[in-house]
Amino acid sequence: MSLLRVEDVHTYYGESHVLHGVNLTVEGGQVTAIVGRNGVGKTTLIRSIMGMTPPRRGTIRLEGREIQRLPPHEIARAGVGLVPQGRRIFPSLTVMEHLRVASRAQPEGWTIDAIFELFPQLKNRVNHYGSQLSGGEQSMLSIARALVTNPRILLMDEPTEGLAPLVVEEVGRTVARLAGSGLTVLLVEQNLPLALKLAHKVYVMSKGVIVFEGTPSDLIENHEVRQQHLGV
Ligand SMILES: Nc1ncnc2c1ncn2[C@@H]1O[C@H](COP(=O)(O)OP(=O)(O)OP(=O)(O)O)[C@@H](O)[C@H]1O
Ligand SMILES: [Mg+2]
Repeated sequence: MSLLRVEDVHTYYGESHVLHGVNLTVEGGQVTAIVGRNGVGKTTLIRSIMGMTPPRRGTIRLEGREIQRLPPHEIARAGVGLVPQGRRIFPSLTVMEHLRVASRAQPEGWTIDAIFELFPQLKNRVNHYGSQLSGGEQSMLSIARALVTNPRILLMDEPTEGLAPLVVEEVGRTVARLAGSGLTVLLVEQNLPLALKLAHKVYVMSKGVIVFEGTPSDLIENHEVRQQHLGV
């Protein structure tokens, strides 16, 4: 059974119809990437899965269980973690406070100590406020905050957006490491080379629908899809 299955999802903001029947599956233990130009509905899909902008039509299943009518906190409790676009770090909370608020300890799961092993830089900044962190540190904290909820699937919405190239590489290595440890990831990423490097499967979105599904090498070979929908 797929870990996450999105079927015929239609999502609106008021009368504005943004997702027009999205279908997508995420297999457990894999990185699945979604790429697409600005404004095509990637974040809206993430918000639909999280229950923040619930779909008006369609089903979303987590390990077979329908979740599309649950409120966001129950979807989170069911095992869906989110690294939101723009990171959403609180300027007036410290690194430790971010982690304590989010932490949901599980036997064998992520502890705050284990997080500091993964991100030694955050350990050095444990009493710093969100407003004092660099972009890269904020990105790592937003990943850390999602991990301490011990999700079964991690949704990441453009974790490398706005970061310097060396920091993008660092975030990429972190995602690769998490994936290597068996974490299931649904990654929205504008950085196509990075998405292609990390993902087992790639979806291309355009104007609220999926226009391509395949392996990274399928997409590299498909010049038409790349040119028409990604402009590369
Ligand atoms: N809160 C909102 N209310 C109304 N329309 C919205 C809202 N959020 C997004 N939209 C519109 O929905 C469409 C899809 O936006 P969305 O943020 O999902 O795109 P995206 O693919 O994530 O873009 P980006 O790459 O810039 O993050 C856009 O036309 C956008 O203007
Ligand atoms: Mg977005």
